[in-house]
Amino acid sequence: MTSASTQNRQSTQPRKVIYDTDPGVDDAMALYFALAHPGIELVGITTTFGNVTVEQATVNALYLTQLSGHDIPVTCGVAKPWAMPGKPPPTFIHGDDGLGNLGQRQPAKRQRDPRSSAQFIVDMARAHPGEITLVPVGPLGNLALALKLEPELPKLIREVVLMGGTVIEPGNVSPVAEANIWNDPHAADLVFTAGWPLTMVGLDVTHQLILPGALFDDIAAHHRHPATDALRHAVAFYADFYSNLYAHVGAVRGCYGHDVLAFIRLVAPELFTTLNGRIRVTTDGIGQGQTMMHRRGDMFFVQPGWGDDCPVSTACLTVDAEAAKALFLNTLMSPWLPAAPKH
Ligand code: BDR
Ligand code: CA
Repeated sequence: MTSASTQNRQSTQPRKVIYDTDPGVDDAMALYFALAHPGIELVGITTTFGNVTVEQATVNALYLTQLSGHDIPVTCGVAKPWAMPGKPPPTFIHGDDGLGNLGQRQPAKRQRDPRSSAQFIVDMARAHPGEITLVPVGPLGNLALALKLEPELPKLIREVVLMGGTVIEPGNVSPVAEANIWNDPHAADLVFTAGWPLTMVGLDVTHQLILPGALFDDIAAHHRHPATDALRHAVAFYADFYSNLYAHVGAVRGCYGHDVLAFIRLVAPELFTTLNGRIRVTTDGIGQGQTMMHRRGDMFFVQPGWGDDCPVSTACLTVDAEAAKALFLNTLMSPWLPAAPKH
């Protein structure tokens, strides 16, 4: 085989991804996008507390994969923040069960992998050095713990593409903080300073992607499948929250697509503009969870913590939202689901 054809084959190989998640309604839509997209090979789902307890997140990850006919390992991760007490889950956004109060569920058939989420990340990184991409879309405690278990992890991981934080757009839990980072700022600072290739997909771009509720009605009508029915139900609850909060989102009875944008960045980076710089997290006080970006190149600051020991990350600043929405819809409309059981 020529080196050119080898290169071509490598570039068309799907990316091996571990999805670190707190499902969560937008986590569920991102999961189904990842399962449907041919450029992504989900090799594991690692759960964390966040939108729900970690136990509920694990139940939901198992259920969503069961509904969609996928037998991917699911592990249970951290139950609380790194260095502060946990907060109650935001049931008013994602429902008591994290999936918009689904009601009666099909009997559970899947079992979790017995390893912790952090141990699973380490095991997979050691087994596939340089091949695994981490896509975390919740608080970052599993990644922080994995870094403690294996200090060489940044050299073993191909890339981290996370949903969280913000550079210019106002926060969604305080004027400056985004929820995932605010929920565990100490873990987040460890992740931003670990030294792996890291891209932050934050509110700067996720607040540009408004997904109308009707999109999910169309997807459900197209597939007539329990997986897309569940997603439609969950999104209706979530869209109520966002529609009541933001008039321009309410105009389409829609919601922000937060978590799915991390996967869209992975498969369609050309849709984004970005900025490179060092990123740190405020761990306490009034600015808790703020992602602070050094936007002045290599300018020296007297404040320690911004020197060469702090790695340069990439932050997404704009996205072609129409193209991202079309990619989302086309991917979810593709024939990615097994035949629905007759009912
Ligand atoms: C993030 O917080 C969670 O509510 C969502 O799932 C998303 O990951 C948005 O701030
Ligand atoms: Ca999430």
